[in-house]
Amino acid sequence: MPVGRSASRTLLRLWPYVRPVRARWAGAAVVAVMASCLGLVFPLVLKWIVDGPVTDRDPGGVWLGAGVLLALGVAEALLFGLRRWLVARPLASVEAAMRADLYRHLQRLPVAFHDRWASGQLLSRGTTDLMVVRMFLAFPLTFLIVNGVTICAGLALLVVQDWGLGLVLLAPAVPLIAVCYRFEHGYAQASRRAQDQVGDLTTVVEESVLGIRIIKGFGRHRSQARAFRDLSSELRGTELVKARLLAGILAVITLLPEAALGAALVIGTTQVADGALSAGTLVAFLSTALALRWPIESIGFLLAMSQEAATATRRYFEVLDAAEEDPRVRPADAAVPEQGRRLPADGLRFDGVVFRYPDAAEDCAPTLAGIDLHIRSGETMALVGATGSGKTTLTALVPRLYEVTAGRILLDGQDIAALPREELRTLVSMAFEEPTLFSASVAENVLMGAVDGTPEQVERALGVAQADFVRRLPDGVDTEVGEQGLSLSGGQRQRLALARSVVGGPRFLVLDDPLSALDVHTEAAVEAALRRVLADSTALVVAHRPSTVLLADRVALLSGGRITAVGTHQELLRTDAEYRYLMSGESDEGEQA
Ligand SMILES: Nc1ncnc2c1ncn2[C@@H]1O[C@H](COP(=O)(O)OP(=O)(O)OP(=O)(O)O)[C@@H](O)[C@H]1O
Ligand SMILES: [Mg+2]
Repeated sequence: MPVGRSASRTLLRLWPYVRPVRARWAGAAVVAVMASCLGLVFPLVLKWIVDGPVTDRDPGGVWLGAGVLLALGVAEALLFGLRRWLVARPLASVEAAMRADLYRHLQRLPVAFHDRWASGQLLSRGTTDLMVVRMFLAFPLTFLIVNGVTICAGLALLVVQDWGLGLVLLAPAVPLIAVCYRFEHGYAQASRRAQDQVGDLTTVVEESVLGIRIIKGFGRHRSQARAFRDLSSELRGTELVKARLLAGILAVITLLPEAALGAALVIGTTQVADGALSAGTLVAFLSTALALRWPIESIGFLLAMSQEAATATRRYFEVLDAAEEDPRVRPADAAVPEQGRRLPADGLRFDGVVFRYPDAAEDCAPTLAGIDLHIRSGETMALVGATGSGKTTLTALVPRLYEVTAGRILLDGQDIAALPREELRTLVSMAFEEPTLFSASVAENVLMGAVDGTPEQVERALGVAQADFVRRLPDGVDTEVGEQGLSLSGGQRQRLALARSVVGGPRFLVLDDPLSALDVHTEAAVEAALRRVLADSTALVVAHRPSTVLLADRVALLSGGRITAVGTHQELLRTDAEYRYLMSGESDEGEQA
């Protein structure tokens, strides 16, 4: 059946990670096989003791035998210790390498991928699943081999000692293999379900921690707790299914060999009574059979753990197989400058840009249906439109957070699709609607906007954003702002995000409603400073308020997925009814300013 085979095929994908540590890992496996097979020598020594010194009533011989047994025990323990020492460090590095790859890949996946995937699913893959994989490499993989070899060697020893009794013990093998086979199939499905449910649960926990203010503010603890409880009881159900399957196979794996052992004991004892078998051989035979008990019984656990590891590996590679952003796309018709030749400063041009979200329904209209807009070099263009009209979507296309469905976007005449992403992102700087900050210092947060930025640049950017509150923070620009900057006010966060976007003095600046959370006076001060920055850059500024619009040289109105009007604020107020309507709320202020 595909499940068993595809489990091993899935696990084979771990090879590139295991390859660098293969020598140590194989060394550890060999040591473990030696240790385990050493256990099979005990019965032979016992046989010698029973048939030799015990039968001859020779106490010295018995002591010698005991000494040999003790030495064997110590050697076995040392070998197992050596195995652990051999694998621990390499396997930790395998796990670290896999986790690093996952993280790097997550950073490179397109935004559209993250729109689709719940963060908890990604978190659980980077933590729990990788731990399961490491445990698999350390334990079940080795011991499936070790126990397999031990069982084969033990059975061979049994058959050599007395083939009749040996066959009696071998009899359960056939039904056992059939049972294991069925078990693997059921367990694979249950473990996949369980690991997916862990991911869902992680998502709920993550959302409730991030959204704790909303949950508390609306008194939603109960419903949130109920959602959590439901998911967690589903997970519990799945885990119980797994436990039942495991209990079933363990019962069979324990029972059948025990029954065979009982039968062999009865037959063997009769043969000893008849004189057909030496007592020593029977002792050796039975203790060999007993020594095989743990290897056989553990097969159930080992198969279960391997199955879980296969599921974890599959989940890990599901993320890793998702296509990364193409670092460089070069359509045939793109205007590519020759090396070193500068193009005329043409500003930012949208040329028949159509965009549909990758996961939007087939039959609904595209979010942007054909945008033609030219923002001249050094000009500031305000983008106005009703809420949900696609302003944020349009701005996200410029740094290629999403790829245009059709049409082109040109920066100084160069198609952005033909620019290396790194170059594109040094040319274009953004401030988003959501001023997300990281758990780092103020300066570090601002400097995300400029590779190799200097403290002076940070000071200047903070000045432009009127972020003088930073000076009152306990450690100034070195103050750590908490996770997502939640220790700051909305307007403070917005100003830091603005500082981050202007710190590098970018040629193209895209601001998505950058001043929405500021009071009128701060807004006026920021605007005055921004005007100086914007004088050097070509800028597209999403605006809801007339006061922000007045920053701009011209305004473009986005409506129905198209630019329906372009002109100065005054012109549009005069000529465009929709524009008048959108601005009417604060039109007085707009007129005066
Ligand atoms: N990731 C997404 N996947 C699918 N559809 C999306 C996605 N983000 C936004 N949309 C849809 O695209 C449309 C435009 O959204 P957008 O955020 O661009 O509007 P906006 O003009 O910025 O609105 P606002 O003024 O409220 O910020 C909306 O109808 C929205 O539902
Ligand atoms: Mg928006």
